[in-house]
Amino acid sequence: MSKVDKLVVVRPLRESELDSMVKIWASSGLPCRPRGRDSLRALRTQRKASPELFIGAFEHGTLVGVALTSDDGRKGWINRLAVIPEAQGKGIARRLILESEKALRARGRRLFCVQIESYNKASVELFERAGYKKEDDIFYFTKREVKSY
Ligand SMILES: CC(C)(COP(=O)(O)OP(=O)(O)OC[C@H]1O[C@@H](n2cnc3c(N)ncnc32)[C@H](O)[C@@H]1OP(=O)(O)O)[C@@H](O)C(=O)NCCC(=O)NCCS
Repeated sequence: MSKVDKLVVVRPLRESELDSMVKIWASSGLPCRPRGRDSLRALRTQRKASPELFIGAFEHGTLVGVALTSDDGRKGWINRLAVIPEAQGKGIARRLILESEKALRARGRRLFCVQIESYNKASVELFERAGYKKEDDIFYFTKREVKSY
């Protein structure tokens, strides 16, 4: 067992911890849509449907990293993975990926996916090291009915 496995507790987040999850995104510089799908209201609703997919990493009892995983019934998605700068480089994101996959596997998913901005070299390296393959022939298209969403 590595040092991070012993010192870091990874578990599903409670509803009362959702605001801390949003703070982790802000402090790690992850773009956030507080008036859209990242609003506390939207997060509360999403968490109620599948609380085991909101995952937090705690170091000495303090939340330092999060992953918001989702299951569309066909694929499992790892979204909004972030670790605060002070806790980066210790294998915490790697651990959050493993726990996300475990939660998705328990729901029957066997295909795990992530969308990464092309400039995010740290995340690309992280997921490649975790066994993910970049699909060069796929483009990501969206149709936004509400701009802030
Ligand atoms: C990307 C991020 C989640 C990585 O978190 P972390 O806890 O520091 O990552 P880990 O310590 O688990 O790193 C595991 C592996 O990922 C790769 N990696 C992580 N950070 C890296 C970096 N800055 N540069 C290059 N590779 C990196 C390395 O291969 C590393 O293995 P190693 O330490 O044995 O070299 C973190 O930098 C972050 O929160 N960034 C801002 C938010 C973000 O971009 N999230 C991803 C959205 S898709």
